Amino acid sequence: MPLILAIESSCDETAVALVRGEAGRAAEVLATVVASQIELHREFGGVVPELASRNHSLLLRPLVEQALRQAGVAVGAVDAFAATTGPGLASSLLIGSTAAKALACATRRPFLGINHLEGHLLSPFVGDTQVPPHVALIVSGGHTLLLDVAAAGHYRKLGGTRDDAAGEAFDKVGKMLGLPYPGGPEIEKLARDGDPAAYHFPRAMLHDAHLDFSFSGLKTAVLYTLQRQVGTLPLADLAASFQQAVIEILVAKTLKAAQHSGQRTVALSGGVSLNQALRGAFTQACARAGVELVVAAPWLCTDNAAMIGFAALLRHLAGESSPLDGDIHPHLPLI
Ligand code: KG4
Ligand code: ZN
Repeated sequence: MPLILAIESSCDETAVALVRGEAGRAAEVLATVVASQIELHREFGGVVPELASRNHSLLLRPLVEQALRQAGVAVGAVDAFAATTGPGLASSLLIGSTAAKALACATRRPFLGINHLEGHLLSPFVGDTQVPPHVALIVSGGHTLLLDVAAAGHYRKLGGTRDDAAGEAFDKVGKMLGLPYPGGPEIEKLARDGDPAAYHFPRAMLHDAHLDFSFSGLKTAVLYTLQRQVGTLPLADLAASFQQAVIEILVAKTLKAAQHSGQRTVALSGGVSLNQALRGAFTQACARAGVELVVAAPWLCTDNAAMIGFAALLRHLAGESSPLDGDIHPHLPLI
């Protein structure tokens, strides 16, 4: 059964995983390790690329050794080495992809360059190499994408954000409210004690026929509300009302996408899909619409190498590999 060692270093998480599986059968994650750099970047209010890449290069070797130990396999048993080659921060992508290529070169095994977005897209299905047809919503810090998925590797874009990504809006609003980076989980915590109907923020393009998103007007509306506010700030109400607006837009557009494409399954992935209120709203809306909902397991939502290893496994099983002199692609689209 082919064994893949995958490296993810597109942003501020350094991650290594070992994934094994066979065509048409189950896939197994033998090890997954993630070293988060969140604490390091927090004092700067966001990711500092130079710091991120320096830490990737410090952390990678011990993490590869840790993952191999956790899986109980030797590096010689690995059948292919994979790394995220885009999209992401150029200097961060270079570290992980160069490491995976060096391992591939030294062991004379194939290398696979993987699109980070394909990793997220397939993350709800890690564990089974047969990916069913579905509508996928990827909601992360850098991307908000709706896709029609016929099968693994066969994607059609239905919609995307015209400005900020959903996670980016969470992070920027978090900053406005004086919350630590990243804003998403902090807003979710605060919103639990707030009234989601306290402020009616705009739901941009909610009723438009197309399936694109826009979150920058919503972010500005929160800013204007903050500037007009006199007296103590009702932070929990602001957080809950902002979160509610994002959720309503994501749910409505995704279900519209399912309706248009005739798909009966919806899959959610990416860091924002960790949000419990979002998961709850999707569960209810999908049940009402008679659509099956598949959500990535929490440990697969934020950046990790298991999802990259799973995407690489499916490509390896399909007979694909990437050239060792291939470049990284910071702005790589999924399709
Ligand atoms: O998928 P991810 O780890 O990285 C990217 O590929 O971008 O997603 C990180 C994003 C951040 O914007 C973070 O604020 C958001 O996911 N996030 C959340 C939650 N947890 C993480 N957003 C809303 N609610 C959460 N609980
Ligand atoms: Zn990501």
